[in-house]
Amino acid sequence: MDSLLLHGGHPLEGEIPISGSKNATLPLLAATLLAPGFYRFTNVPKLKDVRTMSNLLRILGAKVDELDHELLIDTSHASHIEAPYELVKTMRASFYVLGALLGRHGEARVSLPGGCAWGPRPVDLHLKGMEALGAKLELDAGYVVASAYPLRGTTFEFATSSVGASANVLMAAVRAEGTTVLKNVALEPEVTQLALFLNRMGARISGIGTREWSIQGVADLQPADAVMIPDRIETGSYICAVGMTGGKVKLTHADPQQLPTVLDKAREAGLKVTLGAESLTVERTSDHLKPLDITTDIYPGFPTDLQAPFMAMSALASGESRICETIYTDRFTHVAELARLGADIRVDGPTAHIHGVKELKGAPVMSTDLRASVCLVLAGLAASGETEVKRVYHLDRGYEKLEEKLTRVGADIRRIEGDL
Ligand code: EPZ
Repeated sequence: MDSLLLHGGHPLEGEIPISGSKNATLPLLAATLLAPGFYRFTNVPKLKDVRTMSNLLRILGAKVDELDHELLIDTSHASHIEAPYELVKTMRASFYVLGALLGRHGEARVSLPGGCAWGPRPVDLHLKGMEALGAKLELDAGYVVASAYPLRGTTFEFATSSVGASANVLMAAVRAEGTTVLKNVALEPEVTQLALFLNRMGARISGIGTREWSIQGVADLQPADAVMIPDRIETGSYICAVGMTGGKVKLTHADPQQLPTVLDKAREAGLKVTLGAESLTVERTSDHLKPLDITTDIYPGFPTDLQAPFMAMSALASGESRICETIYTDRFTHVAELARLGADIRVDGPTAHIHGVKELKGAPVMSTDLRASVCLVLAGLAASGETEVKRVYHLDRGYEKLEEKLTRVGADIRRIEGDL
């Protein structure tokens, strides 16, 4: 397994291009199953998770050509309906194909996803939504076996806001007979991009951008092309990188409008953030970072995926910070690893109390999940001495060319090829 070796203490100066959003690409790939034909996706990030979803589409009978930040997808012969455990267990988002398979074929056999590193991650909201649309569901040897002849319009309210369940159920609802009203849907930009894409395919969704969608089911959908929106979590991660090392970096190919709460917190920490139409420039102008009080929330609140990076930054603030994680139970696996670098953090249930320290000291640390991994890289950028972040395959799922992007702005970071 590969590692990243960092020598900290170098302020970051220059430009970093933000890649297309992983979490926008994955549901759009699932949506190509809804209509046979040819799709062209651009600004696609080169990431392991995108390759995984592309492989799932191939297993379902699609052709997927991976070009440079571009995918050419042909689902004309995507006639298979089984998403196998061996693949779904490696990436939870594979479960999104359930709604699209039901919408296209009226039947599906999709493995339940494996749990993530932090607590169980159920799919009950996905399944309740499908049942509300008239799907018959059975559990058979770890697979959801679903059939719906036909899908019927309904009114369904999600008990809690869920990005994946909103996307999955929407992809079934667009083909349901009659009208469907979905309430308490997610507002994350990636879900909004999916709804807009489906309308370009001929779906009839209204209320996009609100928490209530009204969907007129249609008999047929047509393929459409798409440009992936920028990755807001990658953007926020690099904001923290500048906060921790000092310096000034322009993040290009970004969309500052995706990150209202995050920019507020970056400014509260003392960073200077200036916005362009498709860029934002982050500068640390003072010697000291200010402590923060963060509570993660659904969009447009503070994103749970940036909780770990902002905790790393708070570890160096002058004072007491507090981070409360409300979306997941126990998404604090990075705390013990940050402590190995000298961070002073106490966890009390869903809340982490961070006592800022003057400096972090390099040490070997272990990645446990995608966002915890990047938090350790950020800490290594700021720590004195050498930090080795092990098991960076987690990082390769969601951060394109991380070490190249950081090297180009002055970081001392390199990948060490590990054994398998
Ligand atoms: C999406 O996951 C993202 N993944 C996650 O990003 C992100 O952390 C999460 O949304 C929250 O923003 C993708 O977009 C591919 P949820 P998802 O359904 O859809 C509970 C990353 O780092 N829940 O909004 O799985 C769930 O347990 C990844 O890129 C149910 O209880 O998240 C969690 O507590 C990590 N029942 C909460 O809702 C369900 O049926 C939010 O989950 C579904 C979810």
